[in-house]
Amino acid sequence: MVRGHLPIMPTEILEFLCESSPDLIIDGTSGGGGHTDLLSKKLPKSKILAFERDSSASEKLSEKFTQKNVEVINTSYTKIPEEMKLRNYSFAGAALFDLGLSSIQLDTPERGFSHRTDGPLDMRFDRNSGKPASQVLRFMTEKQIADVIYKYGEEGRSRVIARAIKQNRNLSTTFDLADAVRSVVKGNPVKPLARVFQAIRIHVNGEFDHLEKLLSEMHLWTTTGSRIAILTFHSLEDRMIKLHFRDSEYFQQFDPPWMLPERSEKRTNSRARSARLRLGVRL
Ligand SMILES: C[S@@+](CC[C@H](N)C(=O)[O-])C[C@H]1O[C@@H](n2cnc3c(N)ncnc32)[C@H](O)[C@@H]1O
Repeated sequence: MVRGHLPIMPTEILEFLCESSPDLIIDGTSGGGGHTDLLSKKLPKSKILAFERDSSASEKLSEKFTQKNVEVINTSYTKIPEEMKLRNYSFAGAALFDLGLSSIQLDTPERGFSHRTDGPLDMRFDRNSGKPASQVLRFMTEKQIADVIYKYGEEGRSRVIARAIKQNRNLSTTFDLADAVRSVVKGNPVKPLARVFQAIRIHVNGEFDHLEKLLSEMHLWTTTGSRIAILTFHSLEDRMIKLHFRDSEYFQQFDPPWMLPERSEKRTNSRARSARLRLGVRL
């Protein structure tokens, strides 16, 4: 069953982004539209550009947001400067990036993101470009796979897992990949499975490359005082953002520089458990 996606840290995000009622707000990862919806209701006079890389999610967002103040744009947040220019906007006063994947994507077996349900081993956010995970893995060497699992999954058993993946030449489903992991992991396989699936998803979608491009170009479409909120779920990703807000000549960290969800939110929304909200302000 496909369930919805609960927006994370809604109160903290609205308070931070809406403080000066900016005319233009970017939601760089609109997903199920949870945060977009809250922002558009809180600031009905502001325009929201809602970016989403996944075309099926974008279609649903366009059906959901029929009001004029939300425009859904089916492309990566790396295209913000071009898309703003097309619409004659020079800067945004606030922006949100809720990184990773949505519960809707995770809970749709045909998308291939979950080790818990069987489906084609795809894992692409944008199914109109790139190659599905099954093909990506076929063309990688054992060493390359081990490096991805180690770096993006922070999984210590990366080499044996990579060997098991390569030994099964015809991995084509999520259960094939899960079986390869289980075949070499002793004890409870749930954490290694989650780490391996996360690592391969990050690699297949070039997620860190997109984030790096976003950070390096963010000053092009913001102005003094513009506020940026980024929800991170991965320590490397979080570090990249922390260093950017701390060291960039264009940004400074907000005070406080980061926040965690309240315990009550973590109890009701499992995805919130690993979330950290990074806050930055344009100098
Ligand atoms: C965690 S979900 C966002 C959930 C959303 N904040 C909500 O409340 O419903 C992340 C979304 O970002 C999308 N995404 C990932 N990388 C992206 C990128 N580079 N550009 C635009 N969207 C991206 C994913 O397809 C996914 O739908």
